[in-house]
Amino acid sequence: MDKIHIQGGIPLKGVIQIAGAKNATLPLMAACLLTEDPLILSNVPKLADIHSLIHLLKDLGAEATLTEESTSSNSLPQGQTLNLSAKNITNSKASYDLVRKMRASILVLGPLLARMGEATVSLPGGCAIGTRPVDIHIKGLQHLGAEIFLEHGYIHAKAPQGLKGKDFTFPMVTVTGTENLLMAACLAKGTTRLINVAREPEISDLVNCLISMGAHIEGIGTDTLIIEGQKSLKGTHHHVVSDRIELGTYAIAAAITRGELDLLGGKKSLIPSFLPKLEEIGVSIEEIPNGLRVSGKNASLRGIDITTDPFPGFPTDLQAQITALLCIAEGSSLITETIFENRFMHVPELMRMGAQISTQGKSVMIRGVQNLVGAEVMATDLRASFSLVLAGLVAQGETVLNRVYHLDRGYEYVEAKLRACGAQIERIHT
Ligand code: UD1
Repeated sequence: MDKIHIQGGIPLKGVIQIAGAKNATLPLMAACLLTEDPLILSNVPKLADIHSLIHLLKDLGAEATLTEESTSSNSLPQGQTLNLSAKNITNSKASYDLVRKMRASILVLGPLLARMGEATVSLPGGCAIGTRPVDIHIKGLQHLGAEIFLEHGYIHAKAPQGLKGKDFTFPMVTVTGTENLLMAACLAKGTTRLINVAREPEISDLVNCLISMGAHIEGIGTDTLIIEGQKSLKGTHHHVVSDRIELGTYAIAAAITRGELDLLGGKKSLIPSFLPKLEEIGVSIEEIPNGLRVSGKNASLRGIDITTDPFPGFPTDLQAQITALLCIAEGSSLITETIFENRFMHVPELMRMGAQISTQGKSVMIRGVQNLVGAEVMATDLRASFSLVLAGLVAQGETVLNRVYHLDRGYEYVEAKLRACGAQIERIHT
């Protein structure tokens, strides 16, 4: 298993091209199941999760070809193009072996059911950060007329006469739940009103793509989406939105190392609650052509309080990374996690690097320290793993990160992007 070695203490300086969003690409890929025509996605990031979903789509009978695009300013390949075609769906079962590798595989349920009138998808099960049920996905599809039963760990869904448009109010905001219902409603008969939907930029990206595939959808960016079902959808070419979580993560990398990074592809509107919090900590942010310049140079970092919330609130997917930053900010910080019940697994690892943190239920209290110290640490989930990289970038001495496969699920070219900005980081294949 690979390990990442980091020598801390170097202020980062340079340019980082932000990739296309993983969490936008995955539902967009699932949307290929809604049409017989080809769907072409550009700005696709180079990530393990993309390959997991390609594997699943191919197993269902779709064709998929991935090609690398041009080279970016720091000579890394920039964006990939993914050609998908689900002309012939030969199998409507997503097996446990494929789904367990990546929970977002549940996104094939809505489109498969809507197009084929049946779908069998393994229940994803829990994951490290929480139990993460999919009961709302199931209730929503039942509401649109699907017959669903659970057996032997699988969701068996049927709608032989097709799905029927109806109003559905989400009892709580769910991102992939919204995406599943939205895609299914595009091929349902009549009008569906989805109320209390998630409003993440990745949802708007999916709505835009579905509209260019011929779907009729109103309410983009609001908490209610109105979908006029169509008999069929057509193919299109769609450019994936920038990854706001990668953007926020590298903004923190600039701040924590007291460096300065130009983050190309970054836009303030992608992380509206995050950037003001970063400024409150003492980091400066400036809009530049094609991106954002984030600087922690000469900054005196101050502790602040943060609560995670659905978009436009502070993203849970940036909670672990900002925790690492607040470990070296002066004074106290209180971080409250409201989305997932077990999303503080990075805390004990950060404490092994000298952080002073106490956990109180859904919150952690951080008392800022002058320095973190390098240690051998273990990645526990995707975002937590980058919080340890960030801590390693500022810690005195060497940090060794184990279980790097978590990182590879959601961040492309991590070492290359950081090395190009001066970091001493390398991957050791063991
Ligand atoms: C998505 C993101 C993930 C992010 C999360 C919250 C993708 C592929 N993943 O995950 O990176 O951390 O949004 O922003 O886009 N819930 C239920 N029942 C359901 C569905 C959800 O109880 O049927 C709960 C979950 O357990 C969680 C909360 O709702 O506590 C929000 O989860 P949700 O928005 O569904 O997360 P995902 O879509 O899985």
